[in-house]
Amino acid sequence: MRKMAWLAAAAAAVALGCTSPGPSDKAERLSKLPPIPSPPDNPTTDDKVALGAKLWVDPRLSGSGQMACTACHVREKGWTDGQVLSRRDNGDMNTRHTPTMYNVGYSQSFYWDGRAPTLEAQVLAAWRAQISADPAKATERIANVPAYVAEFQKVFGTAPTQDAIVKALAAYLRTKVSGLSPWDRHEMGQPNAVSADARAGFDLFMGKARCAMCHTPPVYSDFNFHNIGLEAGKAKPDLGRQVVSKRPEDTSAFKTPTLRSVAISGPYFHDGSLATLEEAVRYMASGGNADPNKSPLLVDTRLTDAEVRQLVAFLRSLTSDEPYTAPRVP
Ligand code: HEC
Ligand code: HEC
Repeated sequence: MRKMAWLAAAAAAVALGCTSPGPSDKAERLSKLPPIPSPPDNPTTDDKVALGAKLWVDPRLSGSGQMACTACHVREKGWTDGQVLSRRDNGDMNTRHTPTMYNVGYSQSFYWDGRAPTLEAQVLAAWRAQISADPAKATERIANVPAYVAEFQKVFGTAPTQDAIVKALAAYLRTKVSGLSPWDRHEMGQPNAVSADARAGFDLFMGKARCAMCHTPPVYSDFNFHNIGLEAGKAKPDLGRQVVSKRPEDTSAFKTPTLRSVAISGPYFHDGSLATLEEAVRYMASGGNADPNKSPLLVDTRLTDAEVRQLVAFLRSLTSDEPYTAPRVP
């Protein structure tokens, strides 16, 4: 039901040519992506986003003072890090692969298992866990920088606070939109924006290959959780969504990732277990490993090698080329 309501709202917004105020608007308008909503207590504004963009690259936020969020969320790698699993600021290894930040604002729950209910809650958790910060101490560090103090005053009307830092980061992440891709240009009628293989790949994606059942356009995610068989046979399987929902059928289910800009964000899946896009597509198209809790939607679609190549060509055409220049940290 929730999915239907979301799609209907998105379709209505697109039909009306609706755009949200604020910077996230720009990339959306060049694709079929609907505006990214923001919560009433944290509206997206240009100034807040500019502040969040600086905090995003500022290692002062971390426990060691050395690690910024961008240590693991790198623009050139689709806001992931190219690692199977990555090491946190305190030296601990993560147990799940770094996901993309693209289109995260469309999600209704966060992390691979959806355990964080809002983006703000997620940002606070990452601040504590990934970059191992004591937020009170890190806030003090930020409050010792006069340029930051002035900026927080302008945006929030207060000195830097833990809550304001979280809000600025979340507002910034709501602008991480991957639209602006060759496929978007094709859908808007630009001739020769994509290859014939990519067009054939899209038809397969929507039809025979059954990918769109979970990777629903225009974000290419249903924001739902599915077991696709990757934990099958592991000695200590990651229980995924089950730990949050307590439903046995959610065992080792994980959130469907957006496929926009997927070509630059390998390795793939919640465990980072497949290195290339072609391997990932082949795995999905073949129905995945057998697992009692695997989604019944995922079946062997018996694609030929040529069809797998076409699917890959389509997915490559979803890569956005929006400009990004890291801001200067004050
Ligand atoms: C050491 C690597 C690392 C660093 C540094 C890091 N992250 Fe992450 N991030 C991850 C991993 C791994 C996950 C997935 C964890 C999970 O699902 O259990 C994640 C997940 C996320 C998500 C959820 C995405 C989704 O689709 O639900 C957001 C948002 C996020 N991080 C923001 C941040 C912010 C903000 C910072 C800085 C405060 C940060 N990250 C720093 C590795 C990192
Ligand atoms: C049953 C729903 C479902 C279907 C059908 C499905 N996927 Fe997925 N897909 C997912 C989920 C869920 C994940 C993440 C699961 C995980 O990591 O454990 C995923 C992950 C992926 C990834 C890795 C993305 C990343 O960032 O790591 C790719 C690529 C992918 N799917 C492509 C496809 C293609 C191509 C098809 C059709 C042949 C397809 N999927 C069919 C649900 C689905």
